[in-house]
Amino acid sequence: MTGTTVALVGAAGHGAWHLRAIEALGPRARLVATCDVQPGYDYTDHRLMLRERRPEVVVVCTPPHTHLPIALDALAAGADLLLEKPPVLSLADHRTLAAAAAGRALQVGFQALGSPTMGRLPGLVGEAVSASVAGAWWRPDTYWTRSSWSGRRGRDGALVNAFAHALMQALAITGIRPPWTLSLDRYRTRPTVEVEDTATLRLEVPDGRSVFVAVTLCSTEFVPGDITVTGTQGACEVGYAQDRLDGEVLPGRIGLLENLLDHRDRGTDLLVPLSRTEPFTVLAEAILAEAPPALLAADRLAARDDGVEIPGAAGLVRRAAAGRAHFREIGAFQ
Ligand SMILES: NC(=O)c1ccc[n+]([C@@H]2O[C@H](COP(=O)([O-])OP(=O)(O)OC[C@H]3O[C@@H](n4cnc5c(N)ncnc54)[C@H](O)[C@@H]3O)[C@@H](O)[C@H]2O)c1
Repeated sequence: MTGTTVALVGAAGHGAWHLRAIEALGPRARLVATCDVQPGYDYTDHRLMLRERRPEVVVVCTPPHTHLPIALDALAAGADLLLEKPPVLSLADHRTLAAAAAGRALQVGFQALGSPTMGRLPGLVGEAVSASVAGAWWRPDTYWTRSSWSGRRGRDGALVNAFAHALMQALAITGIRPPWTLSLDRYRTRPTVEVEDTATLRLEVPDGRSVFVAVTLCSTEFVPGDITVTGTQGACEVGYAQDRLDGEVLPGRIGLLENLLDHRDRGTDLLVPLSRTEPFTVLAEAILAEAPPALLAADRLAARDDGVEIPGAAGLVRRAAAGRAHFREIGAFQ
């Protein structure tokens, strides 16, 4: 049988999406093993799976804090990797992983970087100077109890998890790298959740480029998380999830596993090599080190059957993003 042999570690959660992606590649990819600590898959121990099946490519889709040891084992077994985002949670781990991955192919699962909008953007805006994200989503109470790491300090949060793609996209579009000035304004609505469900973030570098993010997971009005990009020659709205540029949907999204196989077979550049995600890791580490955010008072919230709403949250997110002003700077939640 032909096709690159692929194994999936972490198959029961978001891994189901990867199973479909592997299948969609047809004969180019041959699934040789699934592994999850939950029963129902070929293996519960990824090391045993690596020894017995020797896959050429391993897709790692386990909780973020488990990525590093599994990735190191897979690299040591000689495999190339598609590692889910966030690759790791600290710069020290990022460097450990980068050293271990020398000579191997390691793609990180920020799939929106395979969007055709990325290539078209410079022609529309010139050099990107600022990127501003506005996102208002609804996540019910069950979202915060779905996994052992959900809502846990140092592991999760609206900025580093739910809106991770928006953040990574904004970093990639502006090309911002540390050292930078970071300021945050973070809130939560549930005492049992240790991380932000609502936040603004501002990143600035000395040459004037900036990233701004205003997001909430407590809005019944949906704002997709589009990015307003302002550049030296113009401005543009990027819908990173649907490949929209100023309302036009562009064809030609490249899948990250397909790109990894192209890299192995033909030397095509990886879309999301680990090095491209280092600014995200630095930012994530800083956010995850923050103390639990301010708890919003119950009289600011509207209880719903399945969760907690912040009335007017979508409007606040839009205002903050348009002015690149923190919630506290527009008088919200004072
Ligand atoms: N790219 C995206 O759009 C996207 C979307 C959702 C999740 N993710 C990422 O995918 C990863 C998994 O997310 P999830 O929501 O499915 O998490 P999850 O907590 O549901 O874990 C995924 C699976 O990993 C299994 N697992 C845990 N430890 C394991 C181990 N040592 N060996 C084998 N299996 C193990 C769990 O049993 C579970 O079935 C995370 O890194 C997350 O950030 C990415």
